[in-house]
Amino acid sequence: MNTQAQTVADSKEIENTQFTDFSISQWQDTDAVMEQLHELLGQPVRSIRRENMDKVLKYFEEKCKTSKELADQAAQVIPGGIQHNLAFNYPHPLAITDANGAHMTDVDGNRYIDFLQAGGPTLLGSNYEPVRNKVKELLDSCGPTTGLLHEYEVKLADLVCKHMPAVEMLRMLGSGTEAVMAAIRVARAHTGKKWIIKMGGGYHGWSDQMVFGMRVPGTGRRDAVGIPRGTTSKIHENFPHDLGALRRKLMINRLSGGTAAVIVEPLGPESGTRPIHKTFNQELRKLCDEYNTLLIFDEVVTGFRVGLSGAQGYFGVMPDLTVLGKCITGGYPMAGALGGPRDIMMNLAGGIGGGKKSAMVGGTLSANPLSCAAGYYSIKEMERTKAAQHAGRAGDRLCNGLKEIVSRLGLPYVAYNQGSIVHLQTSGVMLLNAHTLRQKIRTLKEAPARKHLMEEFGAAYCAHGIITLAGSRIYTSMADTDDVIDDALNRFEDVMKLV
Ligand SMILES: Cc1ncc(COP(=O)(O)O)c(C=O)c1O
Repeated sequence: MNTQAQTVADSKEIENTQFTDFSISQWQDTDAVMEQLHELLGQPVRSIRRENMDKVLKYFEEKCKTSKELADQAAQVIPGGIQHNLAFNYPHPLAITDANGAHMTDVDGNRYIDFLQAGGPTLLGSNYEPVRNKVKELLDSCGPTTGLLHEYEVKLADLVCKHMPAVEMLRMLGSGTEAVMAAIRVARAHTGKKWIIKMGGGYHGWSDQMVFGMRVPGTGRRDAVGIPRGTTSKIHENFPHDLGALRRKLMINRLSGGTAAVIVEPLGPESGTRPIHKTFNQELRKLCDEYNTLLIFDEVVTGFRVGLSGAQGYFGVMPDLTVLGKCITGGYPMAGALGGPRDIMMNLAGGIGGGKKSAMVGGTLSANPLSCAAGYYSIKEMERTKAAQHAGRAGDRLCNGLKEIVSRLGLPYVAYNQGSIVHLQTSGVMLLNAHTLRQKIRTLKEAPARKHLMEEFGAAYCAHGIITLAGSRIYTSMADTDDVIDDALNRFEDVMKLV
């Protein structure tokens, strides 16, 4: 590990009083979860009965008419009718008018328990009033942006540096995707090396270089539509969890430009959907040190959600670069940031007439006062309320309840959680691989039906008043009281009885 990062980490370990406060009360039994997931994949899909699915679709037809009208209009002016990959789109997108705490209401007046939480950033619950009030004050004073320095930029950077053990300097950016782009660029600029290795199936945004081995490990450039081959020619995907294969890649890369960085989601690919062993990150850190390669933690999901010191605090592993997003602005726009020790971060020393040759990173609205004020007050509130721990407890309660329902009803589905990130696998599609020819053929054959099952479950949850992320992931928030979770469990049980 970079020695400067080590020094920063050591001093912060002593200073940081929140260091042991995390949303994860107990690490999953990874081997047991993997075994259950393999069993799920080993059997044919267990679908919702046709007559019951017809009732689910009827809900959308009868109760979501205005959403459907809007979705039809959207399809005329927005490609595919949706703007981003979080959008719920089976059988059609829902238009939301109201979001508050643990609930959302659609344009037709239907109320839902909100387990999407905007895809993760609203750890305090949706549209959290104390932060909203501060943002309004800011808007009244200088509007959303000025293009010049604002005190909230400094306050937010200071706060993040205080909490994140491996962050000594912070650069705000527009999104997690942008922050990953910056991390890769800085890693190459700092080390002078070429290769970047990611874990197959991991998601690091949609930049040219990271649309590689996405979702299904072993698929390489399968999704690289519109991306020239040369752009991904120095990206490797490693089979998730396989440190032996990673060592071989690091060794081979030495002969052709060296490895600038290994980038991982620290809970495992797709926000822990493919769960890792608890010691994985420590072993990975050692391997990166051995090959003098930077370790990048993509903490877009885990930053602040796992705890104020992120997954790096939880695992006690110091990455060289930390990518942040989502919670860093508490759900407000322009959520992206890159952090690390001074010597690496100074590769970004920007500004007109800065003098030093630095990596080009930044944009018109990067580090605008609105995002920085929202982020500052959101993190202050997370500190004050212990939001991550509350959300984690809600995640535990939900996950335990789901396990009980699935087992009582004799279903093959698998529930597991890392604190406030709960996974409910009904189809196993997220666990398919494509590393061997046999796996490739199987994935090609089975993925469509398994994906459709996941969509059907997503729609069925909706028809029973619950919104999830793509029918398989659930983000809990501080707003999820025991009553909310128990209400949700009754609704999940009603859906499971449709099978
Ligand atoms: C781990 C991870 N990295 C990067 C990103 C990209 O962030 P953004 O959607 O802000 O571009 C995401 C988004 O979900 C993510 O989950």
